[in-house]
Amino acid sequence: MNYIIITGASKGLGYSITKGLISKDNHIFCISRKKNEQLIDAAKAGNCSLEYYEYDLSDVAGLDDLMQSIFDRITVKDGGTIILVNNAGVVTPVKPADKCSSGEIARNVAVNAIAPMILASLFIKHTGELNAEKRIINISSGAGKKPYYGWSIYCGSKAAIDLFTRCISLEQQAKEYPVKIISFAPGIVDTDMQKEIRSASKQDFEQLERFIAYKNDGKLSTPEFVAGKVIELIFDKEFIDGGVIDISQYKKAVV
Ligand SMILES: NC(=O)c1ccc[n+]([C@@H]2O[C@H](COP(=O)([O-])OP(=O)(O)OC[C@H]3O[C@@H](n4cnc5c(N)ncnc54)[C@H](OP(=O)(O)O)[C@@H]3O)[C@@H](O)[C@H]2O)c1
Repeated sequence: MNYIIITGASKGLGYSITKGLISKDNHIFCISRKKNEQLIDAAKAGNCSLEYYEYDLSDVAGLDDLMQSIFDRITVKDGGTIILVNNAGVVTPVKPADKCSSGEIARNVAVNAIAPMILASLFIKHTGELNAEKRIINISSGAGKKPYYGWSIYCGSKAAIDLFTRCISLEQQAKEYPVKIISFAPGIVDTDMQKEIRSASKQDFEQLERFIAYKNDGKLSTPEFVAGKVIELIFDKEFIDGGVIDISQYKKAVV
């Protein structure tokens, strides 16, 4: 049995990844604020164990209890597989930092960086002694590598996850049963996050027209296509531990 914990399963990329993982061989733990009933129904129909945790990841103080309740449901045998996909993310606030409220900044960083770091830390604590295939996939962004006017908080939180990924890989290298970790930038995906980006003001987000053109010119990837790549990555025999990779490099870099 493969155990998979995935955040942000209710819609967008996380929904498509979860849908693609529905199988009797996978036991899936979904985390997001709103439950997705379609996923629950699809799992029932596919004879797949899927459990939903409605949880606001900006409430970082409750993450220990959340992970404890998930790990109470997991029995990994030697040789098993256990995966954490830190996918949930928010792009807002889309405006220069001096226009953002303290609350907006704190909320973004909590969801995009603090929660994934805590979940990764707890994942390692809970699985450290297990002789199993243990992997963390952090969904990052090209915005973690390149500055965009109006995205300082989003860019900053994604850059944090990229370097965190590299540090964790370093820390795990000497372990008897290391947890492997990767940071994966999914490209531009046709989800609600892109709608939010297109609804920003030109004054606050200089690249607005470019992002509107991506949509109009059909340049966005479908969530299903990107989810397929993430699922390939989850089970990839040649997993690039500590890698910070973009979807455009994936596989080209591996083979
Ligand atoms: N779309 C793109 O072009 C693009 C590009 C680069 C990177 N990414 C990254 O890809 C990941 C998925 O993005 P997406 O495009 O699929 O976004 P999306 O359609 O807006 O979905 C975001 C997901 O995150 C969850 N989420 C947001 N805030 C949350 C919170 N406080 N607590 C718990 N869950 C929360 C949402 O669930 P609830 O609302 O139910 O809580 C939802 O399931 C993100 O990390 C994003 O940064 C996306």
